[in-house]
Amino acid sequence: MTANVTRRSLLKSIGVAGGAGVMFESMRALGLVAAPQALAVPDYRPPSVGDLDAGKRGRHVVILGAGIAGLATAYELGKAGYRCTVLEAKDRVGGRNWTVRGGTSETDLDGHTQTARFAKGHYLNAGPARLPQSHITLDYCRELGIPIEPFINQNANALIYNEQTGAPVQQYRTAKADVYGYVSELLAKALDQGALDQQLSVADKDRLLTFLSGFGAIGDKADGFAYRGTDRRGYRVEPGAADQAGEVLGPPPSLPDVLASQVGRYFSFEFGYDQAMAMFQPVGGMDAIPLALHRAIGAEKFQLGAEVTKITDLPDGVEVGYRDKRGKAQLVTADFCVAALPPHVLARIPTNLDPRVASALRFPTVNPVGKIGLEYRRRWWEEDERLYGGITETDMDLAHIWYPSYGFHGQRGVVVGYYNTGKNAATYGSLTPDQRIERALAQGAKIHGGKYRDELASAFSVAWHRTPFIEGGWVDWPSRTSGEYALLNQPAGRVYFAGDWLSYFIAWQAGALDSARYAVSNIHDRVRAGG
Ligand code: ALA
Repeated sequence: MTANVTRRSLLKSIGVAGGAGVMFESMRALGLVAAPQALAVPDYRPPSVGDLDAGKRGRHVVILGAGIAGLATAYELGKAGYRCTVLEAKDRVGGRNWTVRGGTSETDLDGHTQTARFAKGHYLNAGPARLPQSHITLDYCRELGIPIEPFINQNANALIYNEQTGAPVQQYRTAKADVYGYVSELLAKALDQGALDQQLSVADKDRLLTFLSGFGAIGDKADGFAYRGTDRRGYRVEPGAADQAGEVLGPPPSLPDVLASQVGRYFSFEFGYDQAMAMFQPVGGMDAIPLALHRAIGAEKFQLGAEVTKITDLPDGVEVGYRDKRGKAQLVTADFCVAALPPHVLARIPTNLDPRVASALRFPTVNPVGKIGLEYRRRWWEEDERLYGGITETDMDLAHIWYPSYGFHGQRGVVVGYYNTGKNAATYGSLTPDQRIERALAQGAKIHGGKYRDELASAFSVAWHRTPFIEGGWVDWPSRTSGEYALLNQPAGRVYFAGDWLSYFIAWQAGALDSARYAVSNIHDRVRAGG
């Protein structure tokens, strides 16, 4: 994603300096376009009715899927007076943006039915759950009047547990103090011994030593730059009033033990462009976004429980067959279609499109993803462990435990007991919902002890790859330059495609939103040009 931004800003500067022709050639060189007509749209301008002559207004667009891409397509097209029909196979909008609350019920592809029993006000964001500052998702929250609140993606009090190394559970703050401390000590010693004299001037060495002294909290030259541990590691006995100086947690383990614990492998997560604090979430659940879009578009535009059975591209329009919620075959005709379904689901729908389209839709690989919400009667993570939000990292197949970023100091709370992908998600997904709970509790109790099991009130899990009409967490492109990605970023006749899978923000709502805007711009330009 960093690459995307770099590419985008680079293209902007090329565009300013060399004009559109040079920019286009640069984009082609970067693999952004496969054919001359497929020019990306770096800056989005929402379509407006005023852009269209009277005879071109009110075109009908049928949108397949009411996930974020489908919703954004209908919302943006609605700004310019297009008539939209949205077909959604599930009985709700949002797609993977799904907030599970008390009463939410779902049957998966294996026939397991779960009904959530979370107390009022408590929820699990089963899909997207955090919003980076840079993403246009926040712009939609602003535009739609959706209140947001901080999402705590990092917490020095959160824990790291690498079971396979035999190292004890420890706080992030402790792990960081030790790793940064020893790395600083080593580098300072190497500098002092002249190991980097070829690379650094005397002044550079001085500046680097000053940095390391603060970064690692190490001793001075006379002390051999030793890392001995400071209160950054935390306290065994907290400091207090009068003579209570507190007792710092220590001494630190040896350098080989710190390296063997492999705690440092989690630190880079927070450097990620999309994962760096501060992050946000809509107040009350992520589904505030699809629900606001649904309201803004108008409920009358939606057919829920409508399963698409056929897509036919015609010279002057499109025809989409679907089974309505009563099981009756229906046909809708429109000027254009925007297919905003997951590619692997779309690939199974009969069409008269170029066969290369179906084969391109099968090209991305589908990633299994799972999550469980564990509702507790008591917020023991706050009361007992002073852990307010954030994420614990483990090498167990639960992968991550998330503590809620809402409802602080309340009665109850929903902890994300696992959030995993790939092999780990496949392992959990192959279990029954009860077995998933059992496995998550057994693993989590290794970190938090018996209360992790004893204080559980209820649970609800999702295996996205076993969820009807979605069938995956997200997809990965084995290559974006072998033609398939470019092909699907272009219309197949009057059928356009949209989704996070057609963006450089895969597994982010921003990708779905940006891809929807791209399809909308292309349709609008075509209509303006008389197409
Ligand atoms: N965007 C997803 C996440 O933040 C992958 O976990």
